[in-house]
Amino acid sequence: MRIIFLGDVVGHKGRECLKYVLPGLVREKNISYVVANGENAAGGSGINLKCARELYDSGVDAITMGDHLWRQKEVIHLLENDPAFFRPFNYPPGTPGNGFGCIQKDGLPPLGVINIQGRTFMAPLENPFNGIESAVDCLRQRTNLIIVDMHAEATSEKIAMGWLLDGKVTLVVGTHTHVQTGDERILPYGTGYLTDAGFCGPHESVIGREIEPVIAGFKTLRPYRFPVATGDVRLQGVMIDVDEASGQCRSIERISRKLEDVVGTQAHSTDTDR
Ligand SMILES: [Fe+2]
Ligand SMILES: [Fe+2]
Repeated sequence: MRIIFLGDVVGHKGRECLKYVLPGLVREKNISYVVANGENAAGGSGINLKCARELYDSGVDAITMGDHLWRQKEVIHLLENDPAFFRPFNYPPGTPGNGFGCIQKDGLPPLGVINIQGRTFMAPLENPFNGIESAVDCLRQRTNLIIVDMHAEATSEKIAMGWLLDGKVTLVVGTHTHVQTGDERILPYGTGYLTDAGFCGPHESVIGREIEPVIAGFKTLRPYRFPVATGDVRLQGVMIDVDEASGQCRSIERISRKLEDVVGTQAHSTDTDR
């Protein structure tokens, strides 16, 4: 059984990329489940109902989040009502929504999903290394197939989480930096691991945003608006092949596909909700 995890979907170009690239990829690779990080889906910051719907319509089965969780006010509806929508597990007690849970499609075993957020160079949520094993134990009562999205800045935090969860989950994959790393591997007890999945969106950019305003911001230290860029749109993530019975990862492969290679060079949408 194969599963795809997609890195942060950024803005309208990221959503458009999923719409045009993902269905073909799912057919071509015979994918059973798709999980995507949606923390940048709406205008590059946060997610709203329309953008979540677009991701699901493109073939995403579960959405994870990160530090942009609260940027769109409609997120509360997703947190309170959508069983396939996950925010970082280690937000303080009482935070609405779920940090982990199971999704299930007809004819397939359930898939456990856990979203966690690192603390190095990020808001100090609860310690992600505490409590994670009890979340895993809880999910393992229903399934051996568990995907962990570790949303973090520091590579060391993500790598440590991979080792902590080796043999307990199917995949530990990092998000947040928007830069795909080349360190995919299968850890000794069968957990697939990749430090960062990259991002789905415009790569002629500074991690998804127009280049010039970001440079101007660094030069002047003044606040600038950082519009989502438009060029060189790519879908990035990771695909794993999984042994359903054990939940172990049999193979792991990075994905990076150019939208242009799938649909040509014309503009694809007039959507102004960047
Ligand atoms: Fe993030
Ligand atoms: Fe992000």
